[in-house]
Amino acid sequence: MRLVTFPGVLKPPSDAAILADQLRRERLDEESSVLDLCCGSGILAIVAAQAGAGRVTALDISRRAVAATRLNAMLNGVRVRTVRGDLFAAVAGEHFSLIVSNPPYLVSESSELPRSSASRAWNAGPTGRAFLDRICAQAHQHLVPDGVLLLVHSSLCSEDMTVDALTGRGYEVRIPARHRGALGPRMRDRAPMLRSRGLLQEGEVEDIVVVRARWPGDSFASAGRRASSAREAS
Ligand SMILES: C[S@@+](CC[C@H](N)C(=O)[O-])C[C@H]1O[C@@H](n2cnc3c(N)ncnc32)[C@H](O)[C@@H]1O
Repeated sequence: MRLVTFPGVLKPPSDAAILADQLRRERLDEESSVLDLCCGSGILAIVAAQAGAGRVTALDISRRAVAATRLNAMLNGVRVRTVRGDLFAAVAGEHFSLIVSNPPYLVSESSELPRSSASRAWNAGPTGRAFLDRICAQAHQHLVPDGVLLLVHSSLCSEDMTVDALTGRGYEVRIPARHRGALGPRMRDRAPMLRSRGLLQEGEVEDIVVVRARWPGDSFASAGRRASSAREAS
């Protein structure tokens, strides 16, 4: 794949490759409509289009990321619609069969998120969950029944919270990929802060996890939620 990035647009990090591998395993065809949320260079949108998805939308808040994605789609000979905006606000009322996202998830000192600097691509507040929580809360409003959400993030921002948030809404959730390794350079710089917050215990390692969540549709999800509250009550 040919990819160019502009200053301020993240070169695809290794977690993008892990997520791309899972994306290639999904059954995509002419009927598939895919949203690459927080697209950066557009790598995941291009993988989806190359894997056969009929309609691919790539979305980012950064003008430069949207421009890079448009250019990269052209360089790779695939059709990708690009949209600029803050997460799902830019695709209000739209539904997709698959949403794939490698959002910012690095734990940062401040809860104030960067508005324009390069660090907007990775900083995600004191728990690293500023974007993950929003995605877990809103994705189902943009998935067709049987649609799939694929997310990648570090275990340092709690895969349990992601799994619980999605299971609690009625998704069927699994972790199809997990890669344990040394902290990446940006996380390594933050190791003392992570340790002081109790987020880093054993050595300087993290798991990069892919979370796959199938949305059964509104009626099945609410039936599942009712059944599980009845089980908890008995
Ligand atoms: C970790 S990068 C991922 C880029 C690409 N998907 C990849 O895997 O290489 C996260 C991206 O999220 C974008 N982003 C940050 N805040 C956003 C928001 N509120 N809405 C949409 N995109 C956002 C950043 O501009 C950046 O391109």
